[in-house]
Amino acid sequence: MILGIDGYLGWALALRMLRRGHTVYGIDNLSTRYNAALAGEGSAFPLPEPKEREAYLRELGDLQAFQVADITQPGVLREAIGRFRPDVVVHFAEQRAAPFSMMDEERAVYTMYNNIIGTMRLIYALRDRPEVHILKMGTMGEFGTPNYDIPEAAYVEFTYKGKSDLMPVPKFASSWYHWTKVHDTHNLLFANRVWGLTVTDVNQGPVYGTRTSDMLISGSVEDPEAQVDERLRTRIDIGDAFGTVINKNIARALVSMALYRKEGRKLPLYQYGKARQVRGFISLEDSIEALEILINNPPREGEFRAVNQFHELLTTGEIIFAIRDYLRSAYNYEIPIEWIEDPRVEKDEHYYNPEIKVLPSLGFRPKYTFRQLLPSMVEDMRKYLDRLMAFRDVVGEVRIGWRTGAGYSKRVLRREE
Ligand SMILES: NC(=O)c1ccc[n+]([C@@H]2O[C@H](COP(=O)([O-])OP(=O)(O)OC[C@H]3O[C@@H](n4cnc5c(N)ncnc54)[C@H](O)[C@@H]3O)[C@@H](O)[C@H]2O)c1
Repeated sequence: MILGIDGYLGWALALRMLRRGHTVYGIDNLSTRYNAALAGEGSAFPLPEPKEREAYLRELGDLQAFQVADITQPGVLREAIGRFRPDVVVHFAEQRAAPFSMMDEERAVYTMYNNIIGTMRLIYALRDRPEVHILKMGTMGEFGTPNYDIPEAAYVEFTYKGKSDLMPVPKFASSWYHWTKVHDTHNLLFANRVWGLTVTDVNQGPVYGTRTSDMLISGSVEDPEAQVDERLRTRIDIGDAFGTVINKNIARALVSMALYRKEGRKLPLYQYGKARQVRGFISLEDSIEALEILINNPPREGEFRAVNQFHELLTTGEIIFAIRDYLRSAYNYEIPIEWIEDPRVEKDEHYYNPEIKVLPSLGFRPKYTFRQLLPSMVEDMRKYLDRLMAFRDVVGEVRIGWRTGAGYSKRVLRREE
């Protein structure tokens, strides 16, 4: 069962599981479509209507349902789980944008409610079913950027005034959205302790990429010339509220190049502060591969398994420079860079060393780096330049500040032409 089947990861995982011969039941309330549109944003690729998407999935394999429903509503999950009897429930169905959660009080409260209550409904729907594996998608952002190695564990030994005990791994998240994931983790830990629910809690780094091997007609994931089945594209967010750093900045770079050729003006890419913030990134293809491995290798019944899921550590500066360099070499376009005061409240320079043992021990070997996939991402998005241009005012723009919320006004420190 996939909760959030209409989303970036949920759709890609549905394709993978159906192609591998599994039976899939999907649920989604289409809230990312709705919330992104309300924020004036949208997907880089066109999104077919749910009925059409359902039909595409049925062509690929045994899809039981593409149910449009809100998992926070009483009874929705209990009824669907009772009917479908899944072996595993993969839970993606949350409001997943940090800036969106920081826009204003209403979005912050909505994010808290949607995410925490959705997970609570799942916990209660499975209270008496420890044989069902809950694969819950959390984020590396739950940990913040502590000055110690980030454990890949549910509990660590904590010593205070000479006495020790096992306590949940300390976390200090960096947005309301990320805090919802911390609260989910604690609620799942408690459900595991009280009812013995079987849980994999995945702390995943930001995902990038425009395709997986399951969307291809011919060629390979890194090949810009590969033929993609356009019907099987996933949603890709590219605005400030919903876009993630790599995807939205590639889109912005393409819009900048198009605007320059049309109107002679250049949009810059932004660097926040010193641009030395480090995060652990993973490609969409590798993320789906890792999830498939975790599904096929569940924890023991009653176990709570914490997993860190990322591949390469990159600074935001490295990402922006790589996009600039690619456009320079492939298109002879020089995109300006503006260094702005960091709109977020985060450490600019910090230690960052998360452990990663579980996935490698299960045989996971990530295939792609960001630089390897950059050309195929650029070419995929270039095919939809008209769509990107329709979002020209929001693509990769900075409109939300952690201290101010929506309506943030940038302070430019310097500009590099
Ligand atoms: N994309 C990333 O870089 C990334 C990184 C780490 C973790 N995650 C987590 O992975 C999960 C999936 O992320 P994504 O990028 O695919 O996001 P997404 O927004 O594209 O997909 C989430 C889907 O869940 C649906 N949904 C939200 N609330 C729901 C509800 N109450 N009932 C039913 N459906 C609901 C949305 O409509 C959407 O289609 C999220 O939980 C996110 O926090 C994502």
